[in-house]
Parts: sequence; C-alpha cells; structure tokens
Amino acid sequence: MSKDLSLFIGQLLRNPREISAVVPSSRALAMAMAAPLGPGIGPVAEFGPGTGRITREILARGVSPRDLVLYEMNGAFCERLRQTFPAVRVVNRPAQDAARDFAGRLGAVVSGLPLLSIPEPVQRDILAAAFKALAPGGIFIQFTYGPKPPVAQEVRQALGISALPGPRVWHNLPPARVYIYRRAAENIAAM
Ligand SMILES: C[S@@+](CC[C@H](N)C(=O)[O-])C[C@H]1O[C@@H](n2cnc3c(N)ncnc32)[C@H](O)[C@@H]1O
Repeated sequence: MSKDLSLFIGQLLRNPREISAVVPSSRALAMAMAAPLGPGIGPVAEFGPGTGRITREILARGVSPRDLVLYEMNGAFCERLRQTFPAVRVVNRPAQDAARDFAGRLGAVVSGLPLLSIPEPVQRDILAAAFKALAPGGIFIQFTYGPKPPVAQEVRQALGISALPGPRVWHNLPPARVYIYRRAAENIAAM
C-alpha cells in the first residue's frame, strides 16, 4: 500500500464524517477536475485536497505553484501536502476562510469536499465563501458520486449560481461526475 493511501485510510478511520470517501480520487477523476484550468486562469484555491491527488493534476495543467492555495482542515494531510508540494501554500483552516483571504480575486475553486454528506447550512457557507472569493467569470468545480448535482437547489437559488454537468468518470471508486458552477448569468452567457 502506498504511503498516501495508508495515511488516507488512517485519517478516514479517525475522522469519517470529514473525509467521507473510502479511497482518494483516481487519477482519471483528478484529471477531469483539473481539465478546465490552464496557466492563465489566475489564482486557484483547492478545498479539501486530502493527500493531493487533484493538486498534482492542477499543477500539471500549468497552474503555477505560486498561484495555488490549499485549504485542508486535517493537520496530518497538511503535513503530507507540505512535504509533497513545497512551493504551494497549504492552509490548515476551513475552506470557508477563502472569502476573506481572496475577496473577488480567484480564477477558480476546485473542491474535493464531500458536499453531499455536509449539512445544508454548512454547504451554503462553503459555496457563499467560494463565490465571494471568486472574481467575475470565476468557476467552482465539484465532483459528486450521486445521481443529482452536488449543490442543493435551495443553496443554488439563494446564491444565484447554476451548473453545467461535465464528464462522468467511470474509472473511480465509486464512479463520479464533475460539475462546473458559475454565477447563473455567466452560465447563460457561456452556453
Ligand atoms: C473526500 S476527501 C477528498 C480528498 C481529495 N480531494 C481526493 O479527492 O482524493 C475530503 C477532504 O476534505 C477535507 N475537509 C472536509 N471539510 C473541510 C472544510 N470545511 N475545509 C477544508 N477541508 C475540509 C477533509 O479533511 C478531507 O481531506
């Protein structure tokens, strides 16, 4: 078993509610999450990077390590992320803090958070923080294992955001689908 997988499983057993996935994302899912990004996207925040599967693919898309910040609540994962990605800023604080740290400056948020198992009021705080942190035209990328979009309809309506479904990724345990959220008016313009 790889060092990252044994760390992930150890932390899952200690914090099942926060981690909420049996194994880290596959490379195929990580690539699909990072696919909308490129070197010109501007600052990017990743929410809930865990052991850094998606982080690696964000950097592979040409996002500079100086333009990437990782919000991870789990201290053991933060230590591993700092070892693996020494040039990337790792913040051992909740994703909700991105609103005050970036206020309208981010080009994208890439979220590996287990949104479906997060209570709706907390989900709303996380999405509100992301869209406060995002610049006009900024995107919020999220995967889900469920059949429906991962952000509750009430939260979408309250924040005025909408989603375009991305690809389904079969090569993941379990299979997942990627969604890209934008401010609703911007999604209409993008169609
Ligand atoms: C399902 S794991 C995903 C790990 C990784 N993104 C992947 O796809 O393999 C969810 C991660 O989100 C972190 N997390 C949960 N709630 C968080 C929050 N509010 N802010 C930051 N990280 C959070 C957990 O500690 C865990 O590392």
